[in-house]
Amino acid sequence: MRRILFVGAEALPFAATGGLGDVLGSLPAEIQKYAGDQVDVRVIMPLYRAVSDAYREKMETIYESSVKLSWREVYVGIRKLEHNGITYYFVDNEQYFGREGKLYGHFDDGERFAYFCEAVLSCLPYIDFIPDVLHAHDWQAALAVIYLKVKYKKDWRYGRVKSVFTIHNIEYQGKYDPYILGSLFGLGNEYLPLMCYDGCINLMKAAIECCDMVSTVSPTYAAEIKSPTFSHGLHHELIKEQNKLRGILNGIDYDLYNPETDPIIAANYSAKAPAKKAANKKALQEALALPVREDVPMIALISRLVAHKGLDLFTPIADKLLEQDIQLIVLGMGDEKYEDFMHGLEGRHRDKARCLVLYNRDMSKKIYAACDIFLMPSKSEPCGLSQMIASRYGAIPVVRETGGLFDSIKPYYEENGEIYGNGFTFANYYSGELFERTCAAIGLWHDKAKRKKLVTKIMKTDFSWGASAQKYMQMYDELF
Ligand code: GLC
Repeated sequence: MRRILFVGAEALPFAATGGLGDVLGSLPAEIQKYAGDQVDVRVIMPLYRAVSDAYREKMETIYESSVKLSWREVYVGIRKLEHNGITYYFVDNEQYFGREGKLYGHFDDGERFAYFCEAVLSCLPYIDFIPDVLHAHDWQAALAVIYLKVKYKKDWRYGRVKSVFTIHNIEYQGKYDPYILGSLFGLGNEYLPLMCYDGCINLMKAAIECCDMVSTVSPTYAAEIKSPTFSHGLHHELIKEQNKLRGILNGIDYDLYNPETDPIIAANYSAKAPAKKAANKKALQEALALPVREDVPMIALISRLVAHKGLDLFTPIADKLLEQDIQLIVLGMGDEKYEDFMHGLEGRHRDKARCLVLYNRDMSKKIYAACDIFLMPSKSEPCGLSQMIASRYGAIPVVRETGGLFDSIKPYYEENGEIYGNGFTFANYYSGELFERTCAAIGLWHDKAKRKKLVTKIMKTDFSWGASAQKYMQMYDELF
């Protein structure tokens, strides 16, 4: 039996800020389901304050000790919980993870996640789970791969552990001042060449070098990050290591995102019986005090309001789009300039637009269920889950052809009465193309027969994890 340990900063339903939480909350169970008793997949993450008491009460403390990180000696507690058929471990330390508010983005994140990674590696013999594969996700878990290679492999108990490092977004690399290599990360100056890149400590770069396999979350992104346009400086590194680079498209959790059973939305519906989708639109129009009309297309944008999500394409065309008979719903927070723009946009179009500058998972589901067209004009997108969720809820995606968007949404066209593709796509980073494709989607929506055909097809497109779980197993097999 192959033992796999996922190491990452967030996992649903315990604590999450974005797509990483979705993936770590669903992929382990999917691999387990696919490979059955050939595999034992477990997950380890920090025990944040945000993890609810309902889960905490069910946890069992299985290990308590301390770890040494440079000159610090700090408490570590490991709590264990079985959830959805998967064993989850939580690293408990009040000082680092017991804080109110955001999961990360704190001044001492470098120290917090160095501690987390050291705690993960040091506890393995005592929790009786030395994995065959340590599968670390994003920069917060990069040091687990690095410490394994440079420190722990010398211990016979860790000698056979292989490592995989998955990049969910290459933009966030974990960069620090080289002066803190010893005092914070506990590594001697002989590791400067490994740890440093472009004058900074770069945790992602070092993990790419140390791991046995590096993967990212779509085949197209795996190719893109070898070029300077997408790599945020790491293309040389990825070209050097390309033999061990893989791209596997994410899926979505089909139980969590299921319009047929979702308890959050106003009315349940399915690809076979889509009529009740309209009740969700009506409920949202009422809740947001928009005119209640079935005959107006509702367009949604649910996104972090940051540049790489394509906000610079959306903002110049938003007013022009709203000259048409449409409704627009925006949900998300981010950079102040975009948040301000959204407030202004709503102010100028009180009868048509609602811009909710907040993030709320339940609200996002209500919008997916209500909207007809979903915009995702990302400048870069490692995978993107929203286009898949929108599709499952019957909204027509309009996306830019990049990363996982390119791999999951194919352009719609019709030939001899047959329809092809599952959305509207455009190639260039140009707001005119976003405008034109959105108008094309609006045009199609007004043609009831065509709309019905396309929406049914979109809702039936398979974005479940099945095929990808198999690819993860194949990748693990390649390591042995
Ligand atoms: C990151 C990426 C997103 C991806 C998610 C899960 O949030 O930006 O594209 O879907 O990770 O892998």
